[in-house]
This record gives sequence, C-alpha cells and structure tokens, in this order.
Amino acid sequence: MGIYILGIETSCDDTSAAVLEDNKVLANVIANQEVHQNFGGVVPELASRAHQQNIIPVVERALTHAKINKKQIQAVAFTNGPGLLGSLLVGTSFSKSFALGLNIPIIEVNHIKAHILAHFIQEGCVIREVPEFPFLCLLVSGGHTQIVRVEDYSKMEIIGQTIDDAAGEAFDKAAKIMGLTYPGGPLIDKYAGQGNPDAFSFSKPNVPELNYSFSGLKTSFLYFLRDNLKKNPSFIEENRDNLCASIQKAIVETLMDKLKKASVQTGIKQIAIAGGVSANSSLRQAIVDGEKLYGWKTFVPDFAYCTDNAAMVAIAGYYKYLKKDFASQNISPFTRL
Ligand code: KG4
Ligand code: ZN
Repeated sequence: MGIYILGIETSCDDTSAAVLEDNKVLANVIANQEVHQNFGGVVPELASRAHQQNIIPVVERALTHAKINKKQIQAVAFTNGPGLLGSLLVGTSFSKSFALGLNIPIIEVNHIKAHILAHFIQEGCVIREVPEFPFLCLLVSGGHTQIVRVEDYSKMEIIGQTIDDAAGEAFDKAAKIMGLTYPGGPLIDKYAGQGNPDAFSFSKPNVPELNYSFSGLKTSFLYFLRDNLKKNPSFIEENRDNLCASIQKAIVETLMDKLKKASVQTGIKQIAIAGGVSANSSLRQAIVDGEKLYGWKTFVPDFAYCTDNAAMVAIAGYYKYLKKDFASQNISPFTRL
C-alpha cells in the first residue's frame, strides 16, 4: 500500500484538491472562478470568498474520485505561497483543520516549486519519462517568469527572471488592450492559430544576462493599436487573429532567446517548461523543436498540470513526506518569494 497525500491549492483564483498514491494521481479536481472574467484580472476579495465556498465540495469530490476514505489520507500538502494572501489563508486554514481532525501531519509547499515538480506526476498505467537532474525549467505563469536550475526535488536556483511583468501578464494585458476577457492568454493562443505571426512586428526587449522584461512590449503594443485605431476604428476587429499571432510570436521568441542562452551557459540540455503559459501551443512547439535544433531533451507537461492544480502540490508534498519534512500548526502563508 502506498502513501496517500491530499493536496490543496488556493494561491490565486483556482480552488483545487488532489489525491495522490505515492507519485500517482488518483484525483485532481479544479474549480475555476468565473467571477473575475469581466474585471480584466483576479479580484482578491472575490477570490478568497469563492475559495471559501468551493473548498469543501472540491475536497469531497477529490476523495470520491479517488475512491478513498478521508481516514486513509496520511498527510495534507498545501500551497503556502507565493500568492494572494486571502486566497492562501483559505487553503492553509482548511489544511490545518483537516489534518488536526485526523491527527496527521501538514506539509507546506512552495507554489513555484510545485509547478516544476508537476513533471514527476504519474498517471494511469503508462510510466511517463521524467527529467533527469540537473535540468532547466522555464517557469512561466501569470505571476512569474523564471529560468530555474533544478538540482533535485528541493534544491532549485533561479538563474534568470523578469524584472517587471510576467509572461502570463504580457498575454493577459495584450488581450485586455484588445478587449478580450480575462484570462486572455488562452484566447490569444486560440486566435493566433488562425493568424499570421509575421503580420506585425513589435520591438523585443533588451535586458542583460538571463533576465526578461515584458512591460516595453505591452507599451509598444498599446501605442501601435492606438495609432492604428485613429486611422481605422475597426482595426482590432479586422486584424484580431494577426494581432494575436504577432504578439504571441514576440512573447515566445523572447522566452526562447534567454532559455537557449541559459542552456549554452550551463551546458544543460534537459529542458522543461511549467506554469500556466506552458499551455501555450506556440511555446510548446518551440520547446519541442529544440530537440532537433539544439539537441535538447524536452519535457512539456500535460495540459491538466500546466495551470494551477493541486496534483502538483501533492507531488511536491510527497517528496517532502519521504523526508519527514512537516510544518507546524502555527505556520502562516507568504505572498511573495
Ligand atoms: O500558473 P497559472 O495557472 O497561475 C499563476 O500561478 O499565475 O498561470 C495563469 C496564466 C495566465 O496569465 C493565463 O493567461 C496564462 O497562464 N495562460 C496562457 C495559456 N493558458 C494559460 N497563456 C498563453 N497561452 C495559453 N494557452
Ligand atoms: Zn501557478
């Protein structure tokens, strides 16, 4: 019999619970919060309230899907940060009381590390190939853009990161400028599939070392649209697909340039991507193309484990469980790295 871990994720706007038996997912339930759609971003107060409403039904559903009784759970792993404080407090408080009621340990999990460790999740009967240490992981989400050198399940070093906006924010802000709903990343991806990536070009950032910047790209996109809308008020509607394809190309090329540089500098050719933006089809293709172009061995997560989910929290918790790395009941969440 394996080790059963309950994972809880509430760092932003997705309420998720998962059950793992060792490194294998038995259930991974996610409740998305549609309440933010018309606000152009996550509204923290609404997010915490929705987590409070969702958390019990989501956990119940996860246990039912996993076909196990809560008394079989051996530890609760929860995201302790970074994220929105009110949202984190819901998951943290739930996890503490659940564990206290069952007299089992709690395990704190760093959300960023969880995104990276999602690569070690196994599912079903087919054993999935996992990255070998050390590997490089391009972590791209709504809040973070980092190149991480991963030494083992716990030892990770950020070797490059954004100095302003995250890649997900660049997608979401570009979408907002075009009048698309939040989160705009998946919509840009969808419309880009029908557009020409070379239709328009936007100035790419020039930042030293392995760091990124996306705020200039957003501004150049904004000014470009403003100038064209003066000449043609229907410019966005008439060019939506080409605009999406072109801005996507600029973001993906920017991400790839520094990742290639990082691989050359470190000599590491095991390359993974993680985080919400790793669901982007163009970025996924660019990573996979690296196998032929640069001799990389690449790891692209299943869509279910790209955006926020509790299975990644549970797997991170599993590796800490093996080392008996438990948290105390008076632990409190943190918002930033
Ligand atoms: O990791 P995640 O679910 O939450 C954070 O921890 O931030 O990432 C959410 C981000 C959002 O910015 C969303 O627009 C972006 O991931 N995203 C995408 C795609 N799917 C999600 N961006 C581009 N293309 C996609 N297909
Ligand atoms: Zn995330």
